[in-house]
Amino acid sequence: MNNTEKIPGTIISASILNSDLSDLRETARRVDESGSEWLHFDVMDGNFVENITFGSSVLHAVKPFSKAFFDVHLMVRLPERQIKLFADAGAQNITFHTESECDPEALIDEIHSLGLRAGVAIKPGTDVSGVMPYIGKADMMLIMTVEPGYGGQGFIPETLGKIKAVREAAPYIDIQVDGGINDKTAALVKEAGANVLVAGTYLFRSDDMHKAADTLRNA
Ligand code: DX5
Ligand code: ZN
Repeated sequence: MNNTEKIPGTIISASILNSDLSDLRETARRVDESGSEWLHFDVMDGNFVENITFGSSVLHAVKPFSKAFFDVHLMVRLPERQIKLFADAGAQNITFHTESECDPEALIDEIHSLGLRAGVAIKPGTDVSGVMPYIGKADMMLIMTVEPGYGGQGFIPETLGKIKAVREAAPYIDIQVDGGINDKTAALVKEAGANVLVAGTYLFRSDDMHKAADTLRNA
């Protein structure tokens, strides 16, 4: 169910990619303590992107220690193979890339059939027309603000126009941004229309993660 006829509020989704992966229990505690509503899992297969991160077993491990909403970002060549695994592991939103090998409409239906929210993502180099067909069906559009693959990259300002275009086409949908989101870029993406801000480096490298999350939320 999307487009709930109200302007969506700001959500902070903390990405564990650049957190202390040697202590995910502590990472989950820090995220809860920071007031970030969502926990963002960047799943990479070494195929769709060069990097390899983790599978659904990490969600199983973290679930008992987290109060956050589990937000999964699949950067994998064959997302269909992962949907059930991540749903069973506690995912509450699953976002896949239109550039992957999939039937987006069927994938959205499958994610919804499992009771989860469905997100559709495009890379910085993909035209915004890549997500427009799914506005009435998906719950969230992810406009990548860096090239998928690694945390800690620089924000790509050329992506702002794509955020604006989606917001103009869909006033009530969740628009997520991911990559290079910090105290400087948060205001830019919110001004353009994004309301779900993924941040990893900025949050986990801050001395006061709660203050950092509030800075993004109030930007
Ligand atoms: C890229 C990843 C990153 C990560 C957050 O594939 O999706 O964008 O979530 O990156 P930073 O550290 O820039 O917030
Ligand atoms: Zn991500």
